[in-house]
Amino acid sequence: MKIYPLTIAMCAVSFVVTAAFAQTPSSGTKLTENLVYKKDCAKCHGKTAEGRHFGGPSLISNKTAAASVEDLRNIIANGKGRMPKYTGKLTPEEIDSLVQQIRAVNGKKTAGPTRYFWKFLAAANTSADCWQRLKKSIDKDLGAGAV
Ligand code: HEC
Repeated sequence: MKIYPLTIAMCAVSFVVTAAFAQTPSSGTKLTENLVYKKDCAKCHGKTAEGRHFGGPSLISNKTAAASVEDLRNIIANGKGRMPKYTGKLTPEEIDSLVQQIRAVNGKKTAGPTRYFWKFLAAANTSADCWQRLKKSIDKDLGAGAV
């Protein structure tokens, strides 16, 4: 296994980055607190996202939970039935956040690759732990090689 350079880089980067991100809460905004949701979606899907009669269906449901990230992104971007399309009205990033937050209220975590990356860094942290793990993996490889 030749993962040392990557691990070393991650350890080093984490020193710089964790300092900068230490104050930023890692959990994203909740769907119902997202300003875009409040402005554009709540009128049909309700303040609590549980739907409104004659408006839109609840976004906290088995149906929504079963929808894939792609499905949700498509519905928001291209609309469906009385659901308006939001391409051009919202940025792809805004749509992505909504998708993630809709997944989150349904108990599905869709941490994007970047979020995993930050999580990894946060876990690796500035502590000696990171280097400790690196040392362990080197020891393990060397040990394995010696047998
Ligand atoms: C004019 C009312 C209206 C607005 C505004 C609206 N929706 Fe909808 N939405 C609907 C309706 C109606 C449906 C059901 C469409 C269907 O299945 O035919 C729907 C469906 C959805 C679905 C699919 C739910 C599922 O379980 O299949 C998602 C996700 C969704 N909307 C998200 C949003 C988001 C995010 C916004 C804001 C950017 C938004 N909607 C704004 C009316 C609306």
